[in-house]
Amino acid sequence: MTNYKPTIAIVYASATGHTESLTQMVADALVRQGAQPDVFRVKEFNLAELCCYDIVLVGTYTWMNGEIPKQLHGLYEAMEHQDKTPITGVFGTGDRCFATYCGAVDLFRDMLHATTVLAATLKVEQMPSADDCLRCDAFAESVLTKYSHHKGLLPATNS
Ligand SMILES: Cc1cc2nc3c(=O)[nH]c(=O)nc-3n(C[C@H](O)[C@H](O)[C@H](O)COP(=O)(O)O)c2cc1C
Repeated sequence: MTNYKPTIAIVYASATGHTESLTQMVADALVRQGAQPDVFRVKEFNLAELCCYDIVLVGTYTWMNGEIPKQLHGLYEAMEHQDKTPITGVFGTGDRCFATYCGAVDLFRDMLHATTVLAATLKVEQMPSADDCLRCDAFAESVLTKYSHHKGLLPATNS
């Protein structure tokens, strides 16, 4: 990390609390690496402020047959059509009992890969455990490293 701290928004939806817990773990991982994320439940996030952030991370659970929850449809569309190209990442929780495990993460991943600089994805089954802490650290590190490369702050060979 350099002295310049990227602005980071984490925007998430959570019906029963699993993704909310994972969001907190991702935020804590970023803080451990010197970043200062702003965390928003999606209904509290103003989509017009997407362009204010260097890095936008999405947290999602998966609904009915691998779908993105309704609350996140507006965010999905806004990120698909935004002018600025932020560094992005998507993480989420799901349940392997369903045919399309964490399908919403995959749907966001495919769109973000096409429209932004996608840094990392992370899937966790149901409530995250202490063991997932290291995976959150790796996710946070990938995002911050991608940002540094993108800004030319690190040699390209390390990407
Ligand atoms: C009606 C219903 C449909 C679901 N469909 C899927 C699915 O297709 N794929 C999946 O991985 N998980 C599915 N899940 C599981 C949730 O995504 C999972 O429990 C998640 O951790 C919930 O996150 P939250 O606690 O943040 O709301 C479904 C859960 C419910 C209740």
